[in-house]
Amino acid sequence: MSPSEIKLPDYRSLAPAVAARFERIRERPVILSVRDLKKSFGANGSTHVVFDHLSLEIHRREFICAVGPSGCGKSTLARIVAGLDEASGGEILLNGESVAGPGPDRGMVFQGYTLFPWLTVKRNVMFGLQMSGKAPSTADTEARQWLDMVGLSKFEESYPHELSGGMKQRVAIARALANNPRILIMDEPFGALDAQTRAQMQNYLLQIWKKVDVTILFITHDLDEAAFLSDRIIVMGVNPGGIREVIENPVPRPRSPAQFISPEFLALKKRLEHHIHPPVEGEPAEKLPMIKLTDAGDEVE
Ligand SMILES: Nc1ncnc2c1ncn2[C@@H]1O[C@H](COP(=O)(O)OP(=O)(O)O)[C@@H](O)[C@H]1O
Ligand SMILES: [Mg+2]
Repeated sequence: MSPSEIKLPDYRSLAPAVAARFERIRERPVILSVRDLKKSFGANGSTHVVFDHLSLEIHRREFICAVGPSGCGKSTLARIVAGLDEASGGEILLNGESVAGPGPDRGMVFQGYTLFPWLTVKRNVMFGLQMSGKAPSTADTEARQWLDMVGLSKFEESYPHELSGGMKQRVAIARALANNPRILIMDEPFGALDAQTRAQMQNYLLQIWKKVDVTILFITHDLDEAAFLSDRIIVMGVNPGGIREVIENPVPRPRSPAQFISPEFLALKKRLEHHIHPPVEGEPAEKLPMIKLTDAGDEVE
């Protein structure tokens, strides 16, 4: 069975609110336009093409998740959009203007904790503001507002090593948003967190996104996470690399963990799973040789 044969519930008839949401999104201006993007690594002889002819349009305040198997080029795409890596072909337009190289119009949050360990939480958030020429007093006020937004006002004088992983990522989000980017690019930002903290962070992120005029490109390999957060999901593949499908997420907003067992959520996940872990024919896993190293007598199944 191909992924497209897994029918998603027709949200147009099922949930008019979901259909209306997509109509509203399509009416908003395009913030990020990726045109015919190509990336290859290696010199002439052994060139590895990660993807080619990758095109995509993201509207203002849209929440896009990109999923795909390891090595399909998710981070490569994120890095090129962020201007940290150069494309081998094609073009990136932000607000209609071609961009190359990093800029304050794009914020980035990675999986690894990237705060400056020698600066306090507040000074970490102030850093970019002062780099862009803001007076220390303005940077101070704005940094406090952002820390308030992510619920960390009480920790402004703490150092990163005094914070939990989830709190560090909230500071990283505040720091990225403080520069007022048009787009926030997040590459597996919650990948290193335990399941419970991760769920909390997803919840925080949705609350923050509601309050800020920012478009989000969120890379993840966690299908639940993509289904919980996104408006649309870009499914990427390998050999050949590129976008396999762009799926409109039929799960209504506001999202809650209770929806994890809703028919829309389950159908969406099943379709994503078919892309990423296609069912294998035959034996599910190779049998290991039967060598017994216990004679304790307490047999296990
Ligand atoms: N600097 C590099 N040099 C050579 N190959 C690279 C480099 N960065 C990434 N690649 C290759 O590009 C492909 C995509 O990598 P990546 O974007 O990290 O995938 P993902 O984030 O989806 O796991 C992989 O095959 C990887 O080996
Ligand atoms: Mg990656």
